[in-house]
Parts: sequence; structure tokens; C-alpha cells
Amino acid sequence: MQRTLILLKPDAVQRRFVGEITGRFERKGLRLEGLKLVHASRDLAEKHYAVHKGKPFYESLLSFLTSGPTVAMVWGGRESVAVCRTLMGLTDGAKAPPGTIRGDLALSVQNNLVHGSDSPENAVVEIALWFPEGVIDYPGTDATWVG
Ligand code: RTP
Ligand code: MG
Repeated sequence: MQRTLILLKPDAVQRRFVGEITGRFERKGLRLEGLKLVHASRDLAEKHYAVHKGKPFYESLLSFLTSGPTVAMVWGGRESVAVCRTLMGLTDGAKAPPGTIRGDLALSVQNNLVHGSDSPENAVVEIALWFPEGVIDYPGTDATWVG
């Protein structure tokens, strides 16, 4: 079953949206396989956003991600990478459609509440980065109903 890394960024924690956002992934039928609160170090943030190094918003993005605790989660399920990106909505909260996490709860481009892996390959790398201890695989009891 496909896995993806989801981060509830420091703005989500500060704005008390952990339950609100986590509930959306749960209600979709995805399976929680990893969960912890992490205050990201500069090193972890640099590795996570290495692809954006050199972009104008890079330094500001690192400051944001290291500014407070982040909830790191792994969600498993059918097409979980794409499903989570759809639930999240477009990067810019001002452009994300209503019904999505960012569309409903964010207005900013940077402070957009969530991160989700953008491909199954990157998900494997990101999960190893945030969960070096591994995640929990367990038999689902609801497969007949959720798929
Ligand atoms: P993410 O990686 O966090 O899931 O978001 P994403 O794929 O939708 O967007 P991406 O292009 O990968 O950008 C990573 C994060 O950088 C911040 N950002 N700021 N000021 C700007 O123009 C700008 N563009 C991107 C956002 O926090 C975005 O989620
Ligand atoms: Mg991205």
C-alpha cells in the first residue's frame, strides 16, 4: 500500500488545527502509520526542502519550518500521495479551492499549514528522513469497507 509523508507545519500547530486537519485524512479512509511532534532542526529542514535551495523564499521557508513544533505523520492507503495532495489543495491558500485544507483554512503561500510528498519516490525518501526509526505496519480491519 502506498505511503506519504504529511507535515502539519508550525502554523497548523499554533493555530490549533491539528485535530481539524488530521481528521480530514482519517475521514478519507487513509491509515495512520506514523505520528509525532517534532521541533525541526535547521539540518532537518534543509534536507527536507533541499529541492528549493537557491529560491528566493528558501531562507524564509526554513525559518518558518524551524519556528515551532511540526506534527509529522505517515498515511498509507490507495494512491495516498495523490489523495493527500488533493485534500491539501493548491500551494497558495488564496488560490486553493474551498473544500481543501488550504482552501478552507489558509490565505498565505508560505504559511499553508501542510506539507505532502509530491511523488511516491519522494515519499520514501521523506519518510526515512522524518521517521528514521521506521513506521508501524499493522493489519487493517476495515479493508472490506474502505479499499
Ligand atoms: P509542500 O512541499 O510544503 O507540500 O508544498 P507544495 O508542494 O504545495 O509547494 P512547493 O512548491 O514544494 O513549496 C514548498 C513550500 O514553500 C513555501 N513556498 N513559498 N513565497 C513563495 O513564493 C513560496 N512558494 C512556496 C510554501 O510553504 C510551500 O508549501
Ligand atoms: Mg512540495
